[in-house]
Amino acid sequence: MNLNHYSMSRRTFVATLAAALSAVWLAPGTVRAAQKALIRKTIPGTGEALPVIGLGSSRTFDIGRDQAVLNNLVEVMQAFFANGGQLIDSSPMYGSAEQVIGELLQRSGPQNKLFAATKVWTDGEQDGIRQMEDSLKKWRIDRFDLMQIHNLRDWQVHLKTLHDWKATSKIRYIGITTSHGRYHDELETILRNEPFDFVQLSYNIEDRSVEQRLLPLAAERGIAVLVNRPFQRGALFGKVKGQTLPDWAAEIDCNSWGQLFLKFTVSHPAVTCAIPATTKLHHMQDNMAAGFGQLPDATMRKRMVDFYATL
Ligand SMILES: NC(=O)c1ccc[n+]([C@@H]2O[C@H](COP(=O)([O-])OP(=O)(O)OC[C@H]3O[C@@H](n4cnc5c(N)ncnc54)[C@H](OP(=O)(O)O)[C@@H]3O)[C@@H](O)[C@H]2O)c1
Repeated sequence: MNLNHYSMSRRTFVATLAAALSAVWLAPGTVRAAQKALIRKTIPGTGEALPVIGLGSSRTFDIGRDQAVLNNLVEVMQAFFANGGQLIDSSPMYGSAEQVIGELLQRSGPQNKLFAATKVWTDGEQDGIRQMEDSLKKWRIDRFDLMQIHNLRDWQVHLKTLHDWKATSKIRYIGITTSHGRYHDELETILRNEPFDFVQLSYNIEDRSVEQRLLPLAAERGIAVLVNRPFQRGALFGKVKGQTLPDWAAEIDCNSWGQLFLKFTVSHPAVTCAIPATTKLHHMQDNMAAGFGQLPDATMRKRMVDFYATL
């Protein structure tokens, strides 16, 4: 991608809601200290706005029935909503995560702002339908906002079902996912030929392969982009261990490596929302802080890449 031609997309806007938010979100774990504006981007197909920081659930929410861990996650989830979070991503692949999300939603609220995203991850039409209905029960909700085909699995079969579900308002958006560079060629062909609302893929300051083709294609086709593995599954923190945050991080309202990594990812013009996963309240607060204030422009993004290359 030519960073010189970067411009904030017309699909992108920074909503100046800080004053209103400060009056509403007073729960523990709220970031708002500096009264910065919540950053939202719009879903191309509808113009619906979403906060740029969402929440993943792979491994972190697969906790079985451990009540002590669950109690801790209630606080984590409360901090997510308290800081404007809306989009939660899961999958039947993630063990007990969907059931745990259902419990957390009951105990955390406010769910009126929830944007529920899960996946279908099985073979065959009937098994796909059964799995999606099972996910609804686990989340304890009436409808998913976004249903994604996980890792392209049996995608032709599920896509037909998802079109039917969308036509009858059982879901609002259709998506497809991959991660860490798998199936990029096949995904590109699918996105060129099928009308998806969302694509989910891996993108971070270390793994930038999707900048070449998939992100430009998503922008061209008007497909919203969810980013998984924004921390390269946590590996990015190992790279900066012991390193001082550069002074210029303050120019983009970052006071941690986590915020810097997330702001790099969500400032790509084609990206709609990143879905970092965490089990820790202070990490959740850190991640949500990346959803406020200034985003890097093209010059700053290049500076970030150049800096990261020196580590
Ligand atoms: N094919 C697919 O569809 C696919 C594939 C992969 C992932 N996903 C989705 O994307 C989500 C995110 O990806 P991921 O979970 O693999 O990786 P990730 O979000 O890049 O990294 C998660 C790791 O980062 C740590 N972390 C989070 N916030 C931190 C912070 N502020 N400071 C320091 N460490 C922090 C977490 O540990 P702590 O618990 O200690 O905070 C966790 O170990 C998944 O949960 C899942 O929902 C989808």
